[in-house]
Amino acid sequence: MDDRTMTIGIVIVAAGRGERAGSLEDGPKQYRRIGGRPVITHTLERFLTWPRSGPIVVVIHRDDEALFAEACGKLPGAERVITTFGGETRQRSVYEGLRALSGTDATHVMIHDAARPFVDRDVLDRVAQALDEGQEGVLPAIPVTDTLKRGGSDGLVHETVPRAGLYAAQTPQSFHLSAIRIAHEKAAALRREDFTDDASIAEWAGLTVTLVEGSVDNIKLTVKRDIAMADEKLSQSTLPA
Ligand code: CTP
Ligand code: MG
Repeated sequence: MDDRTMTIGIVIVAAGRGERAGSLEDGPKQYRRIGGRPVITHTLERFLTWPRSGPIVVVIHRDDEALFAEACGKLPGAERVITTFGGETRQRSVYEGLRALSGTDATHVMIHDAARPFVDRDVLDRVAQALDEGQEGVLPAIPVTDTLKRGGSDGLVHETVPRAGLYAAQTPQSFHLSAIRIAHEKAAALRREDFTDDASIAEWAGLTVTLVEGSVDNIKLTVKRDIAMADEKLSQSTLPA
């Protein structure tokens, strides 16, 4: 089924504190500069310039209004961005974003981490294509390439976990808007607040989630070193040929 009547709303979650990246000294990671601009500026630009983006909601922390305005206020198309405040957990922040998006004409949603500034158009197109085909939930992911071990608190290897069929989950994870909103509402009502991504809420709620190919570049900046490496990568790519 090719459903071109759909409108793909975007929720970018940017309300975290970035503790693992050293936010105490440097502030939240989504406002740190890579290639001369804040991380979130890169991320939002990817969606503002993607032709299939519908309404865009950015979920920010209450303390970050000025940081966000400074980082993104001047981007072309910034006037169409809706902001709302997030919560204590990523799950809660997504839920707030879904609520804000429900007031628009979006029929579907792509939920993306602000901390993944390198998502590219090919990934967005592949995810959208799966939605076009009528998939309920879509997860961009890449096959795990490292050998996996289960270790114990004794510091010893307990077993080697077979790698076949294992994937590392990325974002944007995408769904029918009403289906994922209902799944989030159910999780909140039952106080299941421990989900680290939206596909796991969807799976728990019984939705079908389809895998599509992610991208090795679509990393989540998590620790300080990720930010330094991202900065280096962007500086190199802008060197004159
Ligand atoms: N996020 C959010 N609200 C939260 C927690 C996280 O909107 N309460 C967002 C982050 O801003 C980030 C994405 O979810 O874009 C992925 O989360 P993560 O990488 O864990 O970021 P932080 O929670 O900020 O980092 P940390 O866990 O190291 O504190
Ligand atoms: Mg976190």
